[in-house]
Amino acid sequence: MRASFFLVAIAVVTSVAATTTPPSSPPATPNAGGPTPVNITDATVQAVAKFVVASANTNQCGGKCSGILKGGNVTLVKINSATQTLAAGKMYKLCMQMVNTQAKKVSVKATVLYRPWLVANGTMDAAMKFVKVSFTFPKAR
Ligand SMILES: *[C@@H]1O[C@H](CO)[C@@H](O)[C@H](O)[C@H]1NC(C)=O
Ligand SMILES: *[C@@H]1O[C@H](CO)[C@@H](O)[C@H](O)[C@H]1NC(C)=O
Ligand SMILES: *[C@@H]1O[C@H](CO)[C@@H](O)[C@H](O)[C@H]1NC(C)=O
Repeated sequence: MRASFFLVAIAVVTSVAATTTPPSSPPATPNAGGPTPVNITDATVQAVAKFVVASANTNQCGGKCSGILKGGNVTLVKINSATQTLAAGKMYKLCMQMVNTQAKKVSVKATVLYRPWLVANGTMDAAMKFVKVSFTFPKAR
């Protein structure tokens, strides 16, 4: 009796990694002049977002954000993007998604000047100044 041996072919699955590099995103050069993207996990970006939420909820953005509260206080859902520009300090521009107490979405764009030398008592808020804020209430689909 002949034992037949079956060769088991092992299919080696090679995963083809997509190594496409995102177009036109050279490393940020200092003093480049224009806005450069900042990682949204950056500590200052996070602090700016918190500052915007706190300022909006206490209506302390120089009258620029009173309408944002028409559906109640807002909470941050996520930061969509952030850039920074060197100024007398650093100018941060954040696009954020928030939600208010009526569970309505609020899209917020804020420009905040951060002057690190004004950080006091472990809080960055003292170093932040509202420059611009705009918000929209996107229609739910
Ligand atoms: C942002 O920072 C986080 C944590 O350091 C890192 O995991 C992530 O890859 C970074 N994202 C980008 C787009 O650089
Ligand atoms: C909104 O938030 C502010 C600041 O946290 C708080 O003082 C105020 O009571 C809140 N208003 C409402 C309606 O929850
Ligand atoms: C920081 O804390 C000190 C001592 O508690 C206080 O005298 C000072 O006014 C605080 N500065 C700011 C900017 O709040």
